Amino acid sequence: MVQEKILVIGACGQIGTELTLALRQRYGGETVVAADLKRESDLLKGTGPFLPLDVMDKTTLQVQVKRHGIKSIYLLAAMLSATGEQQPQLAWRVNMESLLNTLEAAREESVQKVFWPSSIAVFGPDAPKKDCPQNAWSTPATVYGISKLSGEQWCHYYFKRYGVDVRSIRYPGLISYKTLPGGGTTDYAIEIFHAAIRGESYSCFLRDDKRLPMMYMDDAVRGTIELMEAPASRITVRTAYNIAGISFTPADVAAEIKRLVPGFSIEYKPDYRQAIAETWPESIQDQTARKDWGWHPEYDLAKMTGEMIRHITPELAMSTKH
Ligand code: NAD
Ligand code: SER
Repeated sequence: MVQEKILVIGACGQIGTELTLALRQRYGGETVVAADLKRESDLLKGTGPFLPLDVMDKTTLQVQVKRHGIKSIYLLAAMLSATGEQQPQLAWRVNMESLLNTLEAAREESVQKVFWPSSIAVFGPDAPKKDCPQNAWSTPATVYGISKLSGEQWCHYYFKRYGVDVRSIRYPGLISYKTLPGGGTTDYAIEIFHAAIRGESYSCFLRDDKRLPMMYMDDAVRGTIELMEAPASRITVRTAYNIAGISFTPADVAAEIKRLVPGFSIEYKPDYRQAIAETWPESIQDQTARKDWGWHPEYDLAKMTGEMIRHITPELAMSTKH
């Protein structure tokens, strides 16, 4: 069977890098076109085609989708929660226009499937903090959360009105070692490992007891591919699925790191990101994703911490010092 072409937009980011590599391993390097505004990252070089692309340029996007015969698009370009609060107007424009351009390209060029990630940031202060349900009332407090909630509704609209097979997940904070995070409120949970490997104390921008939903990247990438491979008849949610991984506080992860790096220490200096985190749930209910397409996480806090400590070399940790 000839594998149909896939386009990953935002392929050089934290998720895009690992998702592109996983898709290429599964479907073949030449099948997956990586695209980004940034230059091709070293990790992607030599693994498949790369396309310099600004997803805000609707015409070029459409031309490239047609030229490459793209049948699935994964759209990962966005501004995240913390950088979004620094430039709210820009965050709204980037997050909405990138999605609308992609949905239109999919509709006009008969792309069969689109993946676009939403976030736990759709939930605001009025949603339940513990085991936040799939359909909890959403009043997001950040421009990032507002753009994700609106984006979910656009995905639903394009599915209902035009039959575009759009699928989405509300990712929790994602933890990975291959690529640095891109300006989110959950970035501390990666920075902390790099500091520990450098032998430094970590200054955490959230309070010690701020519990948030998190997930190891391997689980997120596997879940994304499983959702995209599920038969359309199994997909009952056309906004975005809740999926849960691990919920922990900065103090929890620091204690786990200390078991493996005994001299590690942490101090807490909460900044504006604490206020963002206060509005998000602490844990997520994910029964619908489990029932519809078999979602299950494989990493708990101890397993994830072990993997991070094993993979972050002193050289890598030194290169990320700023
Ligand atoms: P990231 O910032 O690491 O990567 C985004 C990539 O998009 C970057 O490589 C950037 O150069 C590229 N990009 C930005 N503007 C572009 C444009 N106009 N055209 C083409 N490329 C452009 O972000 P990420 O953490 O990988 O997040 C990917 C998606 O997942 C986003 O939608 C984000 O909201 C969502 N998400 C991420 C997390 C997380 O913890 N990382 C959690 C929830 C949801
Ligand atoms: N990790 C993301 C952020 O903090 C959640 O969407 O912005």
